[in-house]
Amino acid sequence: MYTTLAQTQFNALQQKPDALILGVESSCDETAAAVVRGGREVLSNVISSQIEIHRRFGGVVPEVASRNHTLALPAVIDEALRAAGVTAHDLDAVAVTYGAGLIGALLVGVSAAKAFAYALNKPLIAVNHIEAHVAANYIADKTLEPPFVALVASGGHTLLLDVAAFNAYEKLGGTLDDALGEAFDKVARVLGLPYPGGPNVERLAKEGTPDIRFYKHCKGVREDLALSYSGLKTAVVNHVHTLKQKGEEIPVADICASFTQEAVELLVKTAAEAVRRSGRNKLVLAGGVASNGYLRNRLYEEGQANEFSVLFPPPVLCTDNAAMVAARAYFMAREGKGLAGLDLNAKSHISF
Ligand code: KG4
Ligand code: ZN
Repeated sequence: MYTTLAQTQFNALQQKPDALILGVESSCDETAAAVVRGGREVLSNVISSQIEIHRRFGGVVPEVASRNHTLALPAVIDEALRAAGVTAHDLDAVAVTYGAGLIGALLVGVSAAKAFAYALNKPLIAVNHIEAHVAANYIADKTLEPPFVALVASGGHTLLLDVAAFNAYEKLGGTLDDALGEAFDKVARVLGLPYPGGPNVERLAKEGTPDIRFYKHCKGVREDLALSYSGLKTAVVNHVHTLKQKGEEIPVADICASFTQEAVELLVKTAAEAVRRSGRNKLVLAGGVASNGYLRNRLYEEGQANEFSVLFPPPVLCTDNAAMVAARAYFMAREGKGLAGLDLNAKSHISF
């Protein structure tokens, strides 16, 4: 019964440019819900962050994240509907991040979205977290359309994607080991800076001089557009430990500036090469690290020099949120993609 009704309503979304979609996001430590109209107009975007809860552990504790999603999600969904000025019955569909992310955390959002969709007899749409990050750009720029190249840099991913059409993603390159956000967080941790590390490293980098060279073996942009941050991260950690052993002062700001410059420089050059090879003239940024001002500036300069435009969403749409999930779902549903049944399961990894 549910399946047939949901399928019929889902099919109708292909002819509904003002479809109202509730997005739900719980892949890491943000519990989020949002209502988006027509894939681009955000009516509400509620985010309940667990940063304060995880700070004392120096990083996200998966089981703690899941429990707090369970506590926060009902109120976060209620607030998203209230702030949007709509009722649950006004919704055309419910969308949820099913992966990639922390499995227990994802399961909370997936279970809640399933229950909600079933109770309301609305279609359920399964969204890939990385594709959702990219879709934040459709909200940031109401005229944006593929084709373009997307650079996704978050705590879990560093990926270059060719986005040929709304539902055609192809991997061009990316990290072989650590994600860039993960490297930022580890560097922050060894320097004694609070979680999440990225914004703190950025703040201190502005006060430092980038005169330390960590990436001794880096040979520039690789033919396969692969990146690696594990070596850079370890070099920073070793540098700090050596200074500590010698009893020397740790030049925290200089380390932040040097690490940022080296990490960003290779990424910028690799992204520019990806744009050149793909023949696109647009690069869009996505993911938490995309809110880094130094990365934004360097990409903008590189775009100017190589005649491609660079688009970055505001920071609130770069870090995890549910508006991007609803936006992604809209562009899937418009082409008849993404309908999920009540057997939808969470996935910790999804490869491109
Ligand atoms: O996309 P996101 O909110 O969650 C994941 O899907 O991972 O990204 C979080 C990551 C964290 O590693 C955080 O330290 C990093 O993004 N980040 C930053 C900045 N803001 C957040 N990294 C560098 N500079 C920033 N300003
Ligand atoms: Zn994310």
